[in-house]
Amino acid sequence: MTKPEPELSSGEPETPRRAHIKSYGCQMNVHDAERMADLLAGEGFVMTEDAGDADLVILNTCHIREKAAEKVYSELGRLRVAKEQRAADGRKTLIAVAGCVAQAEGGEIMKRQPNVDIVVGPQSYHRLPDLIARAAAHDRKGAIDTEFPEEDKFSALPKPQAKRLLARGPSAFLTVQEGCDKFCSFCVVPFTRGAETSRPVAAIVEEARAMVEAGIRDIMLLGQNVNAYHGDDGKGGTADLARLFDRLSAIEGLARIRYATSHPRDMNAALVAAHRDNPKVMPYLHLPVQSGSNRVLKAMNRRHDRDFYFRIVDDLRAARPDIALSSDFITGFPGETDADFEDTMDLVRRIGFAAAYSFKYSPRPGTKSAEGPDSVPESVKAERLAALQALIAEQQNAFNAACLGRRMPVLFEKAGRFPGQVSGKSPYLQAVNVEIPAENVISDFIGRIADVDITELASNSLRGKMAESRSAVGGKAA
Ligand code: 5AD
Ligand code: SF4
Repeated sequence: MTKPEPELSSGEPETPRRAHIKSYGCQMNVHDAERMADLLAGEGFVMTEDAGDADLVILNTCHIREKAAEKVYSELGRLRVAKEQRAADGRKTLIAVAGCVAQAEGGEIMKRQPNVDIVVGPQSYHRLPDLIARAAAHDRKGAIDTEFPEEDKFSALPKPQAKRLLARGPSAFLTVQEGCDKFCSFCVVPFTRGAETSRPVAAIVEEARAMVEAGIRDIMLLGQNVNAYHGDDGKGGTADLARLFDRLSAIEGLARIRYATSHPRDMNAALVAAHRDNPKVMPYLHLPVQSGSNRVLKAMNRRHDRDFYFRIVDDLRAARPDIALSSDFITGFPGETDADFEDTMDLVRRIGFAAAYSFKYSPRPGTKSAEGPDSVPESVKAERLAALQALIAEQQNAFNAACLGRRMPVLFEKAGRFPGQVSGKSPYLQAVNVEIPAENVISDFIGRIADVDITELASNSLRGKMAESRSAVGGKAA
């Protein structure tokens, strides 16, 4: 007789099952991981920081660049060792691969990695309990789900619980849109996250209201292409993102609305105007441009040129002169010449970003640009990346330096790095650390917005002083 497999420990209160989730990639993944944690909590799991001590380990993966995807395989190697050690102690471990690598390569993973018990794509998280039950019954075949189901996973997932929500601080994510129909030639997202879909306005407003009741003050609306949002308005039509802002900003107690990630083509006039007219819409916009060269933008199938981007930025700055802009860039896209790269540097110099993310081009399986050669040598990609990042760092420092001496409202989120300090966010998404007045305790501030005078620059943050002491956190604080 073969040795019986160790069983997954039962859900008895004295031995709660432990789960560990490791998330890679974008904010959407971070948010999905939180929702999976909420779901598992309802199934009797407690979360653990220690993967080696978990009965269930979920790797919530990213497929956007080769480096991101590779991390999964090295992590699976480490987990295999931990799983074998636990099995030797008679404890069973389930390993689940979730996220975009699961979606893109799930079938292969299931075939090639016998230690992986569950594969679950980003649209199927609400089916995790069933997948876990199947895997625990040693049914690997039934423990793979990479469909794009009809039902809205968010209405199927449990609503975030107030206590769990607030434990993460007064800022929270809310997914309003998923998927992408743009098909930029370098990007896997349309394949991993599927076609563009928007959640209905009513479902979003209901969720936002519950979040605000739980104490959330700042909501980041998420979508792979969030400004293409066009959700059912409940009146037989659709609402765009600006209209959704109107509905959300009517929620008393919600102080700040942010959104990411946007495509230049979907920045409509109403959205630009919202930055002028709606005081809850924060003056910060992440608007990826990817390149400053028209030739490269065309090859990327971006559907906009550099002048189009300049025009949007002009419109945004006319609407909201202090708006902080951030962006994404790719260096070394196939065929990118020195002159093309110089166009990117020129665009960056002309715009002046408050922050930006930049990456070396990496060919992704299944995408249009991966059909041709990856023609720019790695060393050139790296040189260009370093030059771009140096310029962006300069601009970020200049943006932060321009905040010195300014008074700005800060939403306090957590204790600061040093005792007696509280840490929060400026309207421009900068971290701001402030000493609290002696008569206060940190918890007086969490979730509150108070005016802060910016007095000092630190490496990745600002330091400031409360503009008013006690009254700043009294009843009148927004
Ligand atoms: N290679 C390098 N960077 C990429 N990105 C997306 N796909 C690739 C790729 N194949 C970058 C883009 C995008 C960000 C999320 O990741 O800049 O905006
Ligand atoms: Fe990575 Fe894109 Fe998937 Fe986010 S949506 S995890 S960035 S591949």
